Amino acid sequence: MKTTEGLFLLGVSAVAALGGLLFGFDTAVISGAIPFIRIYFKLNDIMLGWTVSSLLIGCIAGVLVSGRPADIFGRKKTLLVSALLFLVSAAGSASATVLWVFIVFRFTGGIAVGIASMMSPMYIAEISPASHRGKLVSLNQLAIVIGILAAFFSNYLLVDTGLNNWRWMLAVMGAPAVLFFASLVFVPESPRWLVQKGKMDEAFRTLERISGSSRAREEISEIRGSLGLRSKSPLREIFSRHMSAVVWVGIIVAVFQQITGINSIMYYAPMIFAKTGTGMESALLQTAAVGAVNLLCTLIAIRYIDRIGRKPLLIAGTLGMTVSLFALAFAFSQPDREGAIVLGLILFYIASFAASLGPVTWVFIAEIYPNRLRGEAMSVAIVVLWSACFLVSLVFPAMLNTLGGGSAFFVFGIMCVLYLVFIIVKVPETKGKSLEELEHLLVSGSEREKK
Ligand code: BGC
Repeated sequence: MKTTEGLFLLGVSAVAALGGLLFGFDTAVISGAIPFIRIYFKLNDIMLGWTVSSLLIGCIAGVLVSGRPADIFGRKKTLLVSALLFLVSAAGSASATVLWVFIVFRFTGGIAVGIASMMSPMYIAEISPASHRGKLVSLNQLAIVIGILAAFFSNYLLVDTGLNNWRWMLAVMGAPAVLFFASLVFVPESPRWLVQKGKMDEAFRTLERISGSSRAREEISEIRGSLGLRSKSPLREIFSRHMSAVVWVGIIVAVFQQITGINSIMYYAPMIFAKTGTGMESALLQTAAVGAVNLLCTLIAIRYIDRIGRKPLLIAGTLGMTVSLFALAFAFSQPDREGAIVLGLILFYIASFAASLGPVTWVFIAEIYPNRLRGEAMSVAIVVLWSACFLVSLVFPAMLNTLGGGSAFFVFGIMCVLYLVFIIVKVPETKGKSLEELEHLLVSGSEREKK
């Protein structure tokens, strides 16, 4: 690929990945605001739980409402709506003076996260050539982890700004939201969506900028070939016999990203570190180390995802997670656990996740479904992902306090073993194939078998 084409593609993907940055920022920012909103709104434990999880419920709603508009109005317009909602949520939650208003605006932010969690990877997958798709979609995961780190850091900087500190923490998100909206205006619509809508000239112009004119012509005819007749009832088709294999693989990959425990660490790390008898300041510092390792190891995945493929990364990462979870379960079952060993094992677990399940899950969900059903099929998998995230975040504190860390990590370890078997037996390698080739391989093949 020539430098100008490469730069165009990188720029456009980076703009879409800003959606990932806001996703990471918005999910993590609340951790620093919790102690202050708790006092301001006089929240008991139950109300605090609801106030925090209102965002995750919003995510589920956001994914559910975005599939159809993405197919009808386009990927770009749907992303623009999410940028606006991020802005509204930042302004509304930062200025709320009563609890229900605060919850409504956090829920609105959740809708924006839900939309971005679906549209950013989808848009990047649809605009990328096969040889670079894994890496470019992984930019979105890189942006998510940068967003998480930025939220931790900005909370830390704003904590001493007085009584309104939590308002500033939430308001900060307005800046990247404006940047996201303004830069989206300049990116082209997804060429695959354009072909679907019969806008061939526009699709050709974008594809030509990415792959040159002769390849662009070939791509348009491949995309047209893959569209076929539009289904009158997409949901029914998604769960029909010829689609079910690929749909279930996507759903299972999405669920396992969450039930192998990542957000028990991302959302509750300070609480876990505190259980090793360390002070709060040191627990926060160790949490920052978690964020840094998460970022560094995502870079490893970006480097290797298109070279060695998705499946080897998934296998190696899940193996690393399994080993560290069982070792953590053992460490937590001992009466005096060594803080340094727990930290080392948690960092190894995060490193393994960041180099595998973190980015590969999103890449995989964005590339395995056929062009004509991608919006709806992705939304099914991602709704399931957010629901699993919601459940794990809800039950983990109780697991930790009643069963103890040992059993909680043991359960996640068992999930990793199950996932490992599933990856080896069922997950196809998608590296280097165009979305249309994948469709032929994963869906049309089974359709032919059926006939
Ligand atoms: C997951 C999030 C998680 C993040 C951590 C993402 O891929 O979907 O649930 O918090 O990675 O880096």
